[in-house]
Amino acid sequence: MTTTPSRPVFPPGLGLSAVEVLTTTRAVRRRLDLTRPVPREVIEECVRVAAQAPSGRNRQRWDFVFVEDAATRAAVADIWRRGLAVPPAGIEGPQYSRMNFGSREWTRIRISLDHLAEHLHEVPLLLIPCLRVGSRAELSTVRGQAGAWGSVIPAFWSFMLAAREHGLGTAWTTCHLSYEREMAELLGLPYDTVVQVALTPVAYTIGTDFKPGPRAEPGAFVHWDRW
Ligand SMILES: Cc1cc2nc3c(=O)[nH]c(=O)nc-3n(C[C@H](O)[C@H](O)[C@H](O)COP(=O)(O)O)c2cc1C
Repeated sequence: MTTTPSRPVFPPGLGLSAVEVLTTTRAVRRRLDLTRPVPREVIEECVRVAAQAPSGRNRQRWDFVFVEDAATRAAVADIWRRGLAVPPAGIEGPQYSRMNFGSREWTRIRISLDHLAEHLHEVPLLLIPCLRVGSRAELSTVRGQAGAWGSVIPAFWSFMLAAREHGLGTAWTTCHLSYEREMAELLGLPYDTVVQVALTPVAYTIGTDFKPGPRAEPGAFVHWDRW
């Protein structure tokens, strides 16, 4: 059932501009405050913002599963760590990736990833965004996939942007999906009709000063009229 709020509710945040939020929402792994609880009201506000994202036919097929219970977080983190050890699919090469895996930038990411792996169970909240599907066959074509992922990822990213505005850090991860079914069983998700999309830690950040990250210049990826 869809409702239109009579007025948007925006509790005070950091007061960042849209461009600041868009350019400084980093993957936060080392600067997560593991000691400060995250109030549910703040999460509810971020989710309310996220729900304004577009989705195919405005079906809003997303579900946000937050894990707060300490024992469950530990079990989730254990699955995530095992997923991290599984090599990701796909070939890495200059024609395919703009990341140089021999670079200092990659070393920095690796170190921060190891830190997150060590502490994931201590993060106050873990979020797994999900998508409802008629069946997993929906994901068997590119059009089906585009409609499916496109109907949940904008909302997830909006959540991460709203979290940043409220002083919370997030980091998009997908490694646990190597064990998606096991995670579904742990959290009681119906595997056949609910697809997990990612997992992010959610915690207040240590300091709120984040800068734009290293990215290719537009000339490297913008095409006009032809490839
Ligand atoms: C689809 C996707 C999958 C990702 N998977 C992981 C992951 O499994 N583990 C992790 O620590 N970060 C993961 N990341 C985070 C990226 O490493 C991060 O977005 C990228 O390095 C840019 O970081 P920055 O915005 O802080 O510069 C993922 C990001 C995306 C969008």
